[in-house]
Amino acid sequence: MRLSARTGWDRTETRLARALRERRAAGLEVLDLTASNPTQCGFVYEEARILGALGDPAALTYDPEPRGMLRAREAVCRYYAERGARVGREQVFLTTGTSEGYGWLFRLLCDAGDEVLIAAPSYPLFDFLAQIEDVRLVPYPLVYDHGWQIDFAGLRERISPRTRAIAVVHPNNPTGHFTKEAERRELERIGAEHGLALVVDEVFLDYPIGGGSTLRGPSRAEDARSFAAGEHGCLTFVLSGISKVAALPQMKAAWIAATGPDEELREAMERLEVVADTFLSMNAPVQCALAGWLEESGPIQEQIGARTRENLENLDQILLRNPAVTRLAVEGGWYAVLRVPALGGDEDLAVRLIEERGLYVHPGSFFGFAGEGWLVVSLLTPEAELRRGVEAIARWFGEEGGVDGLQGRGGRQG
Ligand SMILES: Cc1ncc(COP(=O)(O)O)c(C=O)c1O
Repeated sequence: MRLSARTGWDRTETRLARALRERRAAGLEVLDLTASNPTQCGFVYEEARILGALGDPAALTYDPEPRGMLRAREAVCRYYAERGARVGREQVFLTTGTSEGYGWLFRLLCDAGDEVLIAAPSYPLFDFLAQIEDVRLVPYPLVYDHGWQIDFAGLRERISPRTRAIAVVHPNNPTGHFTKEAERRELERIGAEHGLALVVDEVFLDYPIGGGSTLRGPSRAEDARSFAAGEHGCLTFVLSGISKVAALPQMKAAWIAATGPDEELREAMERLEVVADTFLSMNAPVQCALAGWLEESGPIQEQIGARTRENLENLDQILLRNPAVTRLAVEGGWYAVLRVPALGGDEDLAVRLIEERGLYVHPGSFFGFAGEGWLVVSLLTPEAELRRGVEAIARWFGEEGGVDGLQGRGGRQG
């Protein structure tokens, strides 16, 4: 049997996954600080309304529309209008997830072996999405200096004749920073200059936390502006969906909003429509329900916003008393990045935290952080658990035992 080279992934269990599995199999407690599934974080959903929206009789008729049902696309246009962006319904393409949206855009923009620039650190799923479409991801650096920023010299250096697009996550996962207005202008300038498209993932746009470069203070409204708004110097594809906007990842509904200079945009949209028409992947009940879910997303966003803010406050209180661990500025999203003593590789640290204290965190290496000493925790974690977990992390790093163990002398068992 011969299978494609592109799927020849190394699928051996990571040391972290093994440590987690073994701890659970031994019946020992695991405090999970990586929660990213909002349906399992104790939020209150309007269950009857969410399920009721799926019972629309219009879903009994099959009337395929490549870009998606008009009423669903109009709901997406209203979503942008409420955020100050004028998006026409012909500019919206519905997909079964942001991930599918990426796949379609890679297909639209790239031939096999072409390159897409992607920020590092960033969300690790992109590697797989690109590989499946035979696209090469080329990381461009983000630097942390009074908050995260794009290293534009580094980005420009990485542009090659095969580069087709620059991907931006706004706000980024897991660094939680918004792309600033001046950065946006520079990205568009580069896009126009080199004939590159911008692929902008805004799944966390509705979750500004406040934090900015001072670690506090609200992020500025203009920073949290959608890339769908304003004039566009180059083709720009904005991705989002209800997995984050309405905290309903199980419903599998997302979209691409395409913008850009008229002629390029028209050609790109016509081709994207053929891609969409080839799959027609959205099902009718979900498309019928989309408008209602978007309109009713306010209460769940408020709950999540309250959770992330309270968790950040608690985290800061704990870290004030434990200076060995600090956190980086966070402006939006569901995650916080901890700076910890670089006592070993990040994966080693994460494995030891599981084995010794039953604490499950993401190592920075998982997201491509440069260097060592980065851990990522989810601010969706229920408050009491996050407090307990961060206290235990801070204690562990503050203790001699953590240091001893990393030097191979065996740490204290928690
Ligand atoms: C930045 C980012 N983009 C996309 C996704 C996936 O979104 P979807 O469920 O719409 O495929 C995630 C999921 O966590 C994400 O963090």
